[in-house]
Amino acid sequence: MKNDKIIEMDMGSTVSTDVGTVCLGIESSCDETSAAIVDSNKNILAHIIYSQIPEHQKYGGVVPELAARAHILAIDTVIRQTLDRANMTIDDIDVIAATAGPGLIGGVLIGWMAATGIAQSTGKPLVAVNHLEGHALVPRLAAATADNSAAPVSVEFPYLLMLASGGHCQILLVRGVGKYELIGQTLDDSAGEAFDKVSKMLGLGYPGGPIVDRCAALGNPRAFDFPRPLTDKPGCDFSFSGIKTAARTFLNKYPAPYSNEFINDFCASFQASVVDCIINRLDHAMKTDAVIKAKPKTLVVAGGVAKNSAIRAAMEKLAHEHGMVFAAPPMNLCTDNGAMIAWAGLENFQIGNIVREPIAPRPRWPLTELQGN
Ligand code: KG4
Ligand code: ZN
Repeated sequence: MKNDKIIEMDMGSTVSTDVGTVCLGIESSCDETSAAIVDSNKNILAHIIYSQIPEHQKYGGVVPELAARAHILAIDTVIRQTLDRANMTIDDIDVIAATAGPGLIGGVLIGWMAATGIAQSTGKPLVAVNHLEGHALVPRLAAATADNSAAPVSVEFPYLLMLASGGHCQILLVRGVGKYELIGQTLDDSAGEAFDKVSKMLGLGYPGGPIVDRCAALGNPRAFDFPRPLTDKPGCDFSFSGIKTAARTFLNKYPAPYSNEFINDFCASFQASVVDCIINRLDHAMKTDAVIKAKPKTLVVAGGVAKNSAIRAAMEKLAHEHGMVFAAPPMNLCTDNGAMIAWAGLENFQIGNIVREPIAPRPRWPLTELQGN
């Protein structure tokens, strides 16, 4: 493993000198090998992310077998460096948590086996974290307004969550730890997949979301007339495959190479259609019986796509129109990271949800199957 690929995350401001319960969290479900030490007073004591993106870039996406091998090579070093950075040994840790699914099973197994090994050899409690719950709960560890301009936002249950990552796109009512009500979801691709595929079509590289986001900021969102699938229909479900097909159809009409202006306009128009779909579906979600009854005060976005500046801004506007507060995790806690797993581990530990007998990690593990439901 090359040390230059290790990214040490900014740990933000320390909110308390009292560390409370301390959790070591491990994430390995996709193309990041990450570990973090987080305490129950919301201090991130150390956070290391080893990104495999450069290893997958030449294939235009994550290659599961390569990812698993890279996790094996990185995991020990990442955990050791995380402990070193926190100036701690394993004796200082109270709880071990690791992603146990959903995700690429080869990678999940590596993080899970590492965590199981540490827990068994030290006798410390072990929490099996659902990766999606990591994304869903991390705004309770740290959250801010769309542009970080105001004071940090405290996110209390229940809240309405737009969970948008590379593999998932769901609107959820989060009632508590392990308590998720599905309000809407994609019928085909996830929003992240749509960003990645459009980027690939334009030859812009992987992962596509951040590149398309950057280009979109410079383009005209009305240059291309992308569809807004399902927005003329009731309900809260999404469909992004039509937007992707429209992108392919447009590009078939215009031969490459594309000018920067073309790329920027194309990205801006594509992104505007994704934003409109998300806002339309969230607006419907807020009018469902379940959401009206639960009266969530906060509208939250999480998952890798939550980094998108246009989505953050549009969701904040929608939240304010509905008298709600908007919250998003800081940028470095949106994409996959160990801190969200450590935090979800702590929240589960606090309600007694620890592993009591051996479990099998799961490639698929919907949030609605968690035990609080
Ligand atoms: O949550 P995540 O790190 O991994 C999964 O659990 O899937 O999400 C990765 C996804 C990728 O599809 C990536 O293109 C997308 O998040 N993404 C973005 C942005 N940054 C990352 N999508 C839109 N705009 C961004 N700025
Ligand atoms: Zn993720």
